[in-house]
Amino acid sequence: MTLILGIETSCDETAVALVEGGVRVRSSIVASQHELHREYGGVVPELASRAHLERIVPVLRRALADAGASLEDIDAVAVGNRPGLIGALLIGVASAKALAWSLGRPLIGVDHLLAHLYAARLTRGDVLVPEIPHPALGLVVSGGHTAIYLVRDPLDISRLGSTIDDAVGEAYDKAAAILGVPHPGGPRIDALAQAGDDRAHDFPIARLDADSLDLSYSGLKTSFLYAVRGHPVRPSPGAPPEFPRGHESLGERERADLAASFQRAAVRAVMLKLRRALEGPASSARAIVVGGGVSANSRLRAELTSLGEETGLPVLLPAMEFCVDNAAMIAGLAHERLSRGDVDDLTLAAEPTASR
Ligand code: KG4
Ligand code: ZN
Repeated sequence: MTLILGIETSCDETAVALVEGGVRVRSSIVASQHELHREYGGVVPELASRAHLERIVPVLRRALADAGASLEDIDAVAVGNRPGLIGALLIGVASAKALAWSLGRPLIGVDHLLAHLYAARLTRGDVLVPEIPHPALGLVVSGGHTAIYLVRDPLDISRLGSTIDDAVGEAYDKAAAILGVPHPGGPRIDALAQAGDDRAHDFPIARLDADSLDLSYSGLKTSFLYAVRGHPVRPSPGAPPEFPRGHESLGERERADLAASFQRAAVRAVMLKLRRALEGPASSARAIVVGGGVSANSRLRAELTSLGEETGLPVLLPAMEFCVDNAAMIAGLAHERLSRGDVDDLTLAAEPTASR
């Protein structure tokens, strides 16, 4: 069976994986840089590139060892080459080229967003994962992206809508920062929300135009900031605004209620647009396929499951370990290209912006 080595370095995860036949994950190593970026409250591109450079070879060695494979066993080398931080992407692309060239194997560049939409197909061991019926309604929710797609096949998607400001994961991370929770705060807000009352605060859900499939998180973020710290006041004309209080004054109960109410609004905003898409341009969808870090969110997973029951459409979610950035999704999707005889050469470039 075809064994593909995948490399992912688009943001702050250095990842290498070996995937067999496009779906069976033999190994998937993800070295996260969260500790490195924590004190800055977000990813610092220059630090990310350097960390990728230091980690890529040890991560590659571990991925091979975990799979019990050697470089000679690999049939093709895949790399996430777009979109992402340019300096970070370049480390993955240069490494993949060096491997493909020295081993004499095909090189395959993969779009990170398409790969997130493929991640639901990945499996460990012998558990069979169903094919994704097409066309499907696709949702990518991560720290860098929030978009809805019509997925005609794993390599052919068109964007129906996307965020006009922050990505939903970014909104989660900013809400966490406002609460004084360390980066990346998404999973921590999710955990805090479990003990809270989601109706304690009525945070806004941006609907935009009546038929818009775009999303917006800036209003939610500002409302959340004011709920935590109070409305800002200017001590004197021209002076910078000051907040009446800090997050330190909040009790555990209040923090949980804030997190739960934020989560309700953030998730409902996504669900609203998915429903609109199913009534509009994605009415032919035969399934809903989801990917990206925020697809690990407990409330989103629960609401998607209900939407599936309501509409009769299968909802395909990645296993938890394949929600956040990983290289197995890169190697898996590359198999689709390889089986069509569609590969790249050594002129493959890193492309920072999304092509769709
Ligand atoms: O897909 P990913 O690893 O990186 C990007 O491509 O952006 O997504 C990371 C994002 C972060 O913003 C993180 O806070 C968020 O996914 N995230 C979550 C959860 N787990 C990860 N957000 C909400 N709830 C979660 N359980
Ligand atoms: Zn991602």
